[in-house]
Amino acid sequence: MSQIIPQHFIVIGNPIAHSKSPEIHQQFAKQAQLQIRYNRQYCPDNAASFNAVVNAFFNGGGIGANVTVPFKQIAYQLCAEEGEISAHARVAGAVNTLMLKDGALYGDNTDGQGFVNHLISLDWPLKEAKVAILGAGGASRGVALPLIEAGISQLTIANRTVSKADDLVTQLSKASPVIKAIAPNFCALEQLHGEFDIIINATSIGLSGDKLPLQDSLNCHYAYDMMYGRQLPLLTHFSQKGAQVSDGYGMLLRQAALSFQLWTGAIIDPTLTTI
Ligand code: ATR
Repeated sequence: MSQIIPQHFIVIGNPIAHSKSPEIHQQFAKQAQLQIRYNRQYCPDNAASFNAVVNAFFNGGGIGANVTVPFKQIAYQLCAEEGEISAHARVAGAVNTLMLKDGALYGDNTDGQGFVNHLISLDWPLKEAKVAILGAGGASRGVALPLIEAGISQLTIANRTVSKADDLVTQLSKASPVIKAIAPNFCALEQLHGEFDIIINATSIGLSGDKLPLQDSLNCHYAYDMMYGRQLPLLTHFSQKGAQVSDGYGMLLRQAALSFQLWTGAIIDPTLTTI
């Protein structure tokens, strides 16, 4: 009697014990009627260890790996040196999904598209939308291209350290003609004012309980915080001003669904997940 060998997947991070990815992907596998093994993989925080973990995993027959903090940029470097990178990962400067393509390492980034897919499922209008992103780190960089591809017409990046917002706008415009074409603006966080369709919190302030220094004159129809898990001050603030709000849990599910689809070809309905 032949035995089915489950396909093997991992999520690599440090810390990693808190990751919900194994449970999420096991539910996807059930939906797709596949048998998989999906493990959390701790890795020491340096590039040599990360590269060794990735090589050992794929040499051992692994099918796909998710990459989380603090390795997304290191994964990008590894793919740039030894393999191939998707357009979304190239503009994001970060890789969250690894697989082999024609025997070579391939890196993609599903975070930004997972985010946009969540906004679409919430029915938040993106066509011609005027959008402000708070923060100029990796999370901000990863959503710019998918948002513009989804049809937004204006983008402002506001950051505590204004020089970083300036640098990010320059880098993004250089990396993508699609981004350059809408000529994103930048400003200091406390200078952001006026009315936006959508405001997105992509800072890491998240669950610290601290409040962002926002002007009273700053308003929006929709406010999104990429964090999840507790009451988020930014969402309380804008919901009191009448905006619709969402945390980032739906983004987590949807970036995972896109990774699963890349690895297995199976189309997943992330709303059926119960975690
Ligand atoms: P990530 O990859 O999660 O985006 P990051 O690259 O470290 O993380 O970026 C963190 C972002 O959160 C930055 O935009 C940072 O602002 P600075 O560039 O000024 O550091 C922002 N951030 C973190 N803590 C903040 C705070 N207390 N108030 C305002 N912005 C904050």
